[in-house]
Amino acid sequence: MSKRHSVLVTGAGGEIGTGLIQRLSNENAFDIIGLDLKGLDPELAGLCTSSYTGDVLDTDLVPRLFLDHQIEAVFHLAAMLSSSGERNPERAFDVNVGGTMNLLKNAAEQARYLEANIRFIFPSTIAVYGLPDLSTKKRAAKVRENDFLNPITMYGVNKLSCEHLGYYYTHHYSALSEKRSQWHVDFRALRFPGLISAHTLPSGGTSDYIPEMLYAAVAGKPYTCFARPDTRIPLMTMPDAVESILRIFSAPFESLGRTVYNVGAFAPSAEEVENLLTEVLSGADISYEVNESRQAFLDTWPEDVDDSAAQADWGHAPQHKFKEAFAEYLIPALTGTQTEPTHL
Ligand code: SER
Repeated sequence: MSKRHSVLVTGAGGEIGTGLIQRLSNENAFDIIGLDLKGLDPELAGLCTSSYTGDVLDTDLVPRLFLDHQIEAVFHLAAMLSSSGERNPERAFDVNVGGTMNLLKNAAEQARYLEANIRFIFPSTIAVYGLPDLSTKKRAAKVRENDFLNPITMYGVNKLSCEHLGYYYTHHYSALSEKRSQWHVDFRALRFPGLISAHTLPSGGTSDYIPEMLYAAVAGKPYTCFARPDTRIPLMTMPDAVESILRIFSAPFESLGRTVYNVGAFAPSAEEVENLLTEVLSGADISYEVNESRQAFLDTWPEDVDDSAAQADWGHAPQHKFKEAFAEYLIPALTGTQTEPTHL
């Protein structure tokens, strides 16, 4: 069993996990221990030092991972997204909150055992926000971290709870017990917007209408969008999301004024994405048929986020804005061609 410096990545085979493991393996600074509910595809498993098929709720497997490997940091990415969560809210609570608790508890024990703080990187979400109506959403524009925290989805409720649990484990865990230790979990959360990757399609999310629109347009297939054309939420490319994870991971504890940070990059409406795709891809054929429930989630999410704290504290600086994201990253990678940025 490896006793080199190791990091644990849960949800290793998911959208963020895949991108993160590729970057971590290029940097070769740690052994990568991958955990996913499904077996990893062989190429991704090959980038991990060890990979495990199992559940983040497993109270035998998770402690064994910490026993068998010198895990010094956790990237806890496993979760059920907002639309899947709403189809089975109790299961979402178990996975999203119970799984996080299991990881936090074991990370706290690891901190005591290694006599070192254990960094715990957690992707939170714009779904923690709950804007009360569309006029407030428009007026609020770039929402700050402490405003409008009234989520209406189980996923948002779960992620907001986990942010609080992470803060608790970092600052107050076991104040009155003999488990109290100077060594603790060092929890750092990023509130991600909708993420778009050129390599993987998300499943079960509500921001999925953007990647679904893109992938259909590239394949020359018609797409019926479940959100209204004027729906606007913040978005980010997967390489920028992975870069932000690595930046907050590397930041010195003293530089972090918060435990939870907004991160954003660009914020087009569905119609603006449609127009861009139609201009560039002859196969784009997008129509709209609104799913009222999913639209209701989107209408409570902010138009954009204020990520000035992330910029100031640990240098959040996404490379891709709206047009660059599609012209320089997504469309070229998906079509295998270079699209002239000037066309956009
Ligand atoms: N992408 C997530 C979802 O749609 C939101 O953070 O569930």
